[in-house]
Amino acid sequence: MSNPASPPAVGVLDGGPALTFPPGFLWGAATAAYQIEGAAAEGGRTPSIWDTFSHTEGRTVAGHTGDVACDHYHRMPDDVRLMADLGLRSYRFSVSWPRVQPGGVGGVNQEGMDFYHRLVDELLGHGIEPWVTLYHWDLPQPLEDAGGWPARDTAGRFAEYAQLVADALGDRVTYFTTLNEPWCSAFLGYGSGVHAPGRSDGADAVRAGHHLMLGHGLAVQAVRASRPQAQLGITVNLYPVTPASGSAADADAARRIDALANRFFLDPVLRGAYPADLVADLRGITDLGHVRDGDLATISTPLDMVGVNYYSRHVVAAPVEGAEPEPYWRAPSCWPGSEDVRFVTRGVPVTDMDWEIDAPGLVETLERVHREYTDLPLYVTENGSAFVDTVVDGRVDDPDRLAYFASHLRAAHAAIEAGVPLKGYFAWSLMDNFEWAWGYTKRFGMVYVDYDNQARIAKSSARWYADVIRRNGLAA
Ligand code: NOJ
Repeated sequence: MSNPASPPAVGVLDGGPALTFPPGFLWGAATAAYQIEGAAAEGGRTPSIWDTFSHTEGRTVAGHTGDVACDHYHRMPDDVRLMADLGLRSYRFSVSWPRVQPGGVGGVNQEGMDFYHRLVDELLGHGIEPWVTLYHWDLPQPLEDAGGWPARDTAGRFAEYAQLVADALGDRVTYFTTLNEPWCSAFLGYGSGVHAPGRSDGADAVRAGHHLMLGHGLAVQAVRASRPQAQLGITVNLYPVTPASGSAADADAARRIDALANRFFLDPVLRGAYPADLVADLRGITDLGHVRDGDLATISTPLDMVGVNYYSRHVVAAPVEGAEPEPYWRAPSCWPGSEDVRFVTRGVPVTDMDWEIDAPGLVETLERVHREYTDLPLYVTENGSAFVDTVVDGRVDDPDRLAYFASHLRAAHAAIEAGVPLKGYFAWSLMDNFEWAWGYTKRFGMVYVDYDNQARIAKSSARWYADVIRRNGLAA
């Protein structure tokens, strides 16, 4: 591991006026269980949908799986020491459902839960606030076999599991987010099928989205009942959606995509209702017959905070005759009821994921949530970028990633200045890891992972971020 205490690659406060964050701003980094833990068959853990999916031919790049990942399960104390070296105030990680409740039913698997007891104690011992994500996409396989998220019963199973985790860890963990990015679980998992479990049916995707949110509401109620002091929230991935032109048709395309990407989740969770225009757009796909009386009241159970994951902006246009549909998150099957909307590439700089770099979009997104939805504290629970990294003389210089973080932190600061109650920021990710269908081919880490020997190298962005944390700010 390189020494994070060595001078930052780029001056933080030199060369410009200081942007100082409010005292107590929660500086952190995030990961997720399946992306880093490995030890897929150890300590009583049973398969999740991501084990099954990644072991199915053709589902992930080069057949990569999370079997070993960053081997964090065995290297956790070293990894926590690394976090402490970087000066992290908080660490957002997810609990692996099939590790602590194999199969998704029954009591606690003590050996699995003990891993999280040790992790939480290790973090607290280093003065790092643990932040638990309850669901970061690793549904126990038997629950998928019983219908998965399109089945209503999964919501209840999730709440039971949430309660079990809160009972175990809630004496030391204050912050819990229920779901991570339910759009991805629903629309990539059951719509386009590029994520586990790899199913492709628009109506199922919509049902999955509903039952994920129902599970969220039930989980909030269960955890609140047993841990009244907990700070409870959800993490949603939000995007500004911009029409490609001033035409009415492009404006309507943007409205449709905004409904599916953003308002599908924000409105039920924070307003207790589905947007009327979304319901109309979905009419040819589903009549929402799966929504029962009382569901929306459960889904909108009051929260303590909202987590926003921000990466990029969507630019969209009305359909044109004969246009080729594009892959992945632009795939028409991700957008039930709006399959013919076109995603537009503008030629602005992109990351290694091909996602447009758009820091002002973060200000726009945070201001929107605050202005249109809630006064609750907001947290950026993920923000970051993939770029190709090379190790030279044992060091990794990643100026593009560093610049991405810097521009988005300036945006976060601008949002605070504009009155948004933003209370913290988590970089994605602490370290390179299993980037889902992309396997290990995309690197988001501030810390480089050499998958041949599991060596960790703090990249220059990590050393820079450590300096930002230490000074609680950066240059304008
Ligand atoms: C969102 C997800 O929460 C995380 O798991 C993923 O690795 C990053 N974004 C980057 O795609």
